[in-house]
Amino acid sequence: MTKSFYITTPIYYVNDSPHIGHAYTTLACDVMARFKRLDGYDVKFLTGTDEHGQKVDKAAQAAGVTPQAFTDKVSQRFRDLTGVMNFSNDDFIRTTEPRHIKATQALWERIKANGHIYLGSYAGWYSVRDEAFYTETELTKDSDGQRIAPTGAPVEWVEEPSYFFNLSEWQDKLLEFYDAHPDFVVPESRYNEVRSFVKGGLKDLSVSRTSFSWGVPVPGDEKHVMYVWLDALTNYITALGFPETGGEYAQYWDGREGCSPLHVVGKDILRFHAVYWPAFLMAANLKPPARVTAHGWWTNEGQKISKSVGNVIDPIALVNEFGLDPVRYYMMREVPFGNDGNYARASMINRINSDLANNVGNLSQRTLSMIQKNCDAKVPEHGAFTPEDNALLDGAYALLSKLRAHVEKQEFHFVLDSIFALSTQANLYIDQQAPWGLKKTDPARMHTVLYVLAETIRVIALYLQPFIPASAGKMLDQLAIPEDQRRFTFASAKHSLIPGTPLPVPEGIFPRFVEEAEKVA
Ligand code: MSP
Repeated sequence: MTKSFYITTPIYYVNDSPHIGHAYTTLACDVMARFKRLDGYDVKFLTGTDEHGQKVDKAAQAAGVTPQAFTDKVSQRFRDLTGVMNFSNDDFIRTTEPRHIKATQALWERIKANGHIYLGSYAGWYSVRDEAFYTETELTKDSDGQRIAPTGAPVEWVEEPSYFFNLSEWQDKLLEFYDAHPDFVVPESRYNEVRSFVKGGLKDLSVSRTSFSWGVPVPGDEKHVMYVWLDALTNYITALGFPETGGEYAQYWDGREGCSPLHVVGKDILRFHAVYWPAFLMAANLKPPARVTAHGWWTNEGQKISKSVGNVIDPIALVNEFGLDPVRYYMMREVPFGNDGNYARASMINRINSDLANNVGNLSQRTLSMIQKNCDAKVPEHGAFTPEDNALLDGAYALLSKLRAHVEKQEFHFVLDSIFALSTQANLYIDQQAPWGLKKTDPARMHTVLYVLAETIRVIALYLQPFIPASAGKMLDQLAIPEDQRRFTFASAKHSLIPGTPLPVPEGIFPRFVEEAEKVA
C-alpha cells in the first residue's frame, strides 16, 4: 500500500501581510511535500490562516472594518503568496470556515466530556501580540518600566470568567510521551528545551475568553469564545475531516500504518505545538502528531526583523527582483534548518552566481550545447564506461538514499549541499575528460563522455525538483524526459537516457545576477 505523509505549516495570523518568515516555513514544507510525492508517498500538505482572537480583532478595528471583511482580505494575500512561491499545498484552511468551527467545538466537547475542562476565572497577564498568558515571574520591564513578555511583547492585566484546561495533570503523561518518542521534537536541542519546560511543572491553562467575541463560541456557554490557540491548533485535524475519524483522518493522522503527521513551526511557537497540542489531543483520546520540527528566525542584514524598524522583508519583492527559484534555493541553502539565519543581499547574489549559474547552470549549458553541436542534437550513443564514468554515474544514483536520510531529519541544506557536490564533481569530470579535445582525436569517446554528463544532469535535475521545481523541470525538458518519468524511482541506471532521443535547442536556465549599476558600467 502507498505510504501516507501529512505535513502542515503553522496557520498564519491575518493581522498583517505575509513576510519572509511565513514564506520560509511554508517553503520548507513545500520542499518536503514535493520530495515525498516524488518518492512515491501519498501526500497531504496543508497551510492556511489563523483568523480569530484579539490580535486580529484589534487589527480589524484599526482598519475600520469588520473582522470578517478584514480577514477575507488579508487571508487572500496569504493564498496569493502560495501561487507566487509555487507552493504545492493540497488545501488552504481558514479558521473562520464552518468546517473548522464544527471541528473545534467537537474537540472541545470531547475534552470536556472526559472531564478535563472546568469553569473558573482568570486573573493574570496576557499578551495580545503573542496571544499568550504569562506569569508574573516570566515578565521583565522595558526601558519605560512597562512589564513585557519574554518575547518583548507588551502585556495587559486580564480578569474574567474563563474555562480552564487541566494542563497541570498532564505533566507525567507528556514526559512519558516524550521519552517514548525521542524524535517528537527536532532539533534535539529543542526537544530538551520542551522536556525541561514540562519537567519544571505545568499550570492549568485558560482556554476561553469573555472580554471580546471574535472567536469560536464555547458549546453550551456562548458568552465565551475559545482561546485562539486551542482553536488554531485544531486546524490540523479539521482539514482531515474531524470529527469524522475515518477517511483522511484515518489515512493521514491515525490508522494507516506508517502515517506520520509532521508539523513544521518556528521556534517561537514550539511550546504550543509540543506541549499544549499533544495534551489537548490526549485529553480527547486522540493520537498526538508524530513530530514537530522547529526552525529558527531570519534577521535582515544582521538586524532583528520588525515592523517598527521598517526592515520587514517582502517575499514577493525578493521574487520580483531575483526570480522565484533563486529565492527558493537561497532560503533552503543559506541556513541550516533549525538555526537562525541572516538575509544578506550579497549572499543571495553570491549563491545565485556561484551555485546556480556557475555550478549547475554551467554544467548543463556546457554539456547540452556540445551535444547540440557535435551529436546531431540527439542523446549521444555511448561505448563501454570507464571507471571514471562509472564513479560519476554510480555516485549520482546512490545519492538518493543519502538525500532521503537528510530529508527525514529536515536537513534541507545538507540535501542541497550533496546535490551541488555531485554537480561540482561532474564539472571536474568535464575538465578532466576535456570532450572538446576528443572531438578530433576520439569522437566515440567524446560521445560517451557527453552521454555520461547528460545522464548525470538528468539525475541532478530529478533531485533538484523539490527545491526549484520550475528550473529543474526545464532541465528535464531539455533532456526530453517525459513528465511521467520524473519521480525518484527513475533515478537509476535502468531508466537512463536513451541514445538517439532528439533534444531541443538548450537555453540558459540559471542566469547570472548582475546589479543594475554594473550593467550600465
Ligand atoms: N497563528 C500562529 C500559529 C498558529 S499554528 C496552529 C502564528 N502565526 S504567525 O503568523 O505569527 O507566525 C507564523 C510563523 O512565522 C511562525 O512559525 C513564526 O516562527 C514564523 N516567523 C515569523 N517571523 C519569522 C522570522 N523573522 N523568521 C522565520 N520565521 C518567522 O504564530
